[in-house]
Amino acid sequence: MLDWYDSHARELPWRAAPGSNAPDPYRVWLSEIMLQQTTVAAVRPKFEAFVARWPSVEALAAAPEADLMAAWAGLGYYARARNLHACARAVVALGDFPTTEDGLRALPGVGAYTAAAIAAIAFGERAVVVDANVARVVARLFAIERPLPGGMPEVRAATDQITPDTRSGDFAQAMMDLGSSVCTPRSPRCLACPLSSVCEGYRLGHPEGFPIKAAK
Ligand code: ADE
Repeated sequence: MLDWYDSHARELPWRAAPGSNAPDPYRVWLSEIMLQQTTVAAVRPKFEAFVARWPSVEALAAAPEADLMAAWAGLGYYARARNLHACARAVVALGDFPTTEDGLRALPGVGAYTAAAIAAIAFGERAVVVDANVARVVARLFAIERPLPGGMPEVRAATDQITPDTRSGDFAQAMMDLGSSVCTPRSPRCLACPLSSVCEGYRLGHPEGFPIKAAK
């Protein structure tokens, strides 16, 4: 997956340039908050506008709330914008972003997924990062029988098994990119997938049948 990521990663403005050091925690945090319930395509221009106007967490914390709410327009879920501001102020009060998953989890608006994503992507901590794309990839890879969301503990355990000790942030983003471009919901492109040789869903001949849908 890491080899695949090195040649296939999407270039996204919150990621570090290939070959450079870890990305800026502020940019990682902001992107992950924006990406909760909003697509990459919709987030990209908003993200660029935010970091141009508020280039640091200190600048964002000092912004009048009304400016931030106006700039958020179009992203929806305004509670996220209010939490964003509260979180920026909390980070400034702490002096900097916490660097561990537990520390990040304590910030306003930062849930389990977001804490894991920031810890792995910005701080290189080994964290198990499961968003909807990753859950689909893993459910197929392991042919997980229990429908989601009930089967999420199995998905998390399987993701934990395959998460590497180094570059776990790149691994997580590789799984996200694979889910969005190759292991898509209806017609996965298994011939282009670096995991097909080890994918149980593929071996069974019906990867698109996973994750199994709960009976209505
Ligand atoms: N969705 C949530 N976080 C993401 C990231 N870091 N890259 C791509 N898609 C994402």
